[in-house]
Amino acid sequence: MIGIRGTTRLAGVIGWPVAHSRSPLLHNFWCARHGVDGAYVPLPVRPGALETALRGLAGAGFRGVNLTIPHKEAAFSVVDRVSDVARRAGAVNTLVFHEGGEIEGTCTDGIGLLADLRAHGVEVTGRTLVLGAGGAARAVAAALLDMGGEVVLANRTRARAGGLCEALGGGSVVEWDGWERALGGFDLLINTTSLGMGGEGGAFDLSAASDGLIVSDIVYVPLRTPLLAAAEARGLKGVNGLGMLAHQARIGFEAWFGVMPEVDAEVMALLTASL
Ligand SMILES: NC(=O)c1ccc[n+]([C@@H]2O[C@H](COP(=O)([O-])OP(=O)(O)OC[C@H]3O[C@@H](n4cnc5c(N)ncnc54)[C@H](OP(=O)(O)O)[C@@H]3O)[C@@H](O)[C@H]2O)c1
Repeated sequence: MIGIRGTTRLAGVIGWPVAHSRSPLLHNFWCARHGVDGAYVPLPVRPGALETALRGLAGAGFRGVNLTIPHKEAAFSVVDRVSDVARRAGAVNTLVFHEGGEIEGTCTDGIGLLADLRAHGVEVTGRTLVLGAGGAARAVAAALLDMGGEVVLANRTRARAGGLCEALGGGSVVEWDGWERALGGFDLLINTTSLGMGGEGGAFDLSAASDGLIVSDIVYVPLRTPLLAAAEARGLKGVNGLGMLAHQARIGFEAWFGVMPEVDAEVMALLTASL
């Protein structure tokens, strides 16, 4: 049990709904591990109330917040200052409230995924096929392009993938209907669509993949998504989305609580047990 005192630093996660978020579990674990006088709370905020909530929390002395669905893009236009990576992603997921009331936003999703892939020994500078063109795809594609990788997007709504390439100034598009057949030339496949959430999403044919293809799925409920099951059946290395969640959280924790926490086996076991 956390002892909340007058000195306790406060942060939280804003979402609608927010009850499913594993972020309170993770941040409060890190507070306890590092002896930080801090607490991290879930904050259910309706879409129309986002700006009022952010200004209110900043005024009430919170150090900052994370943002989850559906607030990441709306918050981008509310904050006073954004990092370069957030500008490229067009979204923010981590806010720091400065003394004086200024709100600064960044996006740690892309950096978090790349950090987790590196922790799994995966090279991120090769040729990557990204499935999706939503908020997470923007962050992931921007981070891959920043690393000098080659990015190809496949999205159900093709125009959205084309628009994303234009906005990022890089990448190209393949047809959604043909992505499985195009797999042969790729080193890495990343699913950023919500396909597979709740175990739904159908069967995937990965027979055209090269034997060295790494398959990453950022969906983490369930941990073994249909895509990761197909990768396993094809003998390919797979990486689930839970490590991304843990790695993206480190940057906010350091900004609010002053310690850069580690993602290790104990952290991953804690998150896995919560699913
Ligand atoms: N592991 C992590 O830390 C982490 C972080 C962020 C997000 N996520 C997960 O990533 C997923 C996407 O999040 P987001 O914020 O990017 O959502 P989003 O902006 O709503 O984008 C959803 C994407 O999924 C596609 N899609 C949805 N239903 C589909 C279907 N039935 N068939 C084909 N494509 C479909 C959409 O295609 P259209 O453009 O055609 O609609 C779009 O590309 C969520 O499951 C989220 O939980 C995980």
